Amino acid sequence: MTKPADLFEAARAASARSYSPYSKFPVGAAILADDGAVYAGANVENLAYPEGICAEGVAIGHMVMGGGRRIRAVAVYAPRLALCTPCGGCRQKLAEFSAADAEVYLCDDAGVRETVTVGALLPHAFFTEDIG
Ligand code: THU
Repeated sequence: MTKPADLFEAARAASARSYSPYSKFPVGAAILADDGAVYAGANVENLAYPEGICAEGVAIGHMVMGGGRRIRAVAVYAPRLALCTPCGGCRQKLAEFSAADAEVYLCDDAGVRETVTVGALLPHAFFTEDIG
């Protein structure tokens, strides 16, 4: 049984693998997916700054390629900022794979400090079944 504290530890471990030479702002994210597995990611920056990708996006990519399809919960940790909340783009990415009540654990060095939901982070999310 994966607990919030386990996701924090996975997010912290992931942050240590961040490639962030430009911002020097490592971030780690860890997803508990519907298959019961934990998928982690760190931000991966690029000299062409807009090409950098956030920790949450990397974790989502790992989840999809690992066979997970839905996010049950996700922890986010940034060593330089207590309570690093996902950026706007990441909120949209998380919403794609989450129910509105999926939990987001905002962490500091001691562990999970605040729990919010994907729905609270992105109210009135863009959604339609009438596309494609
Ligand atoms: N970053 C993330 O990885 N996730 C977030 O939700 C916020 C920002 C990264 C992007 C960039 O590499 C660095 O943090 C500074 O913005």
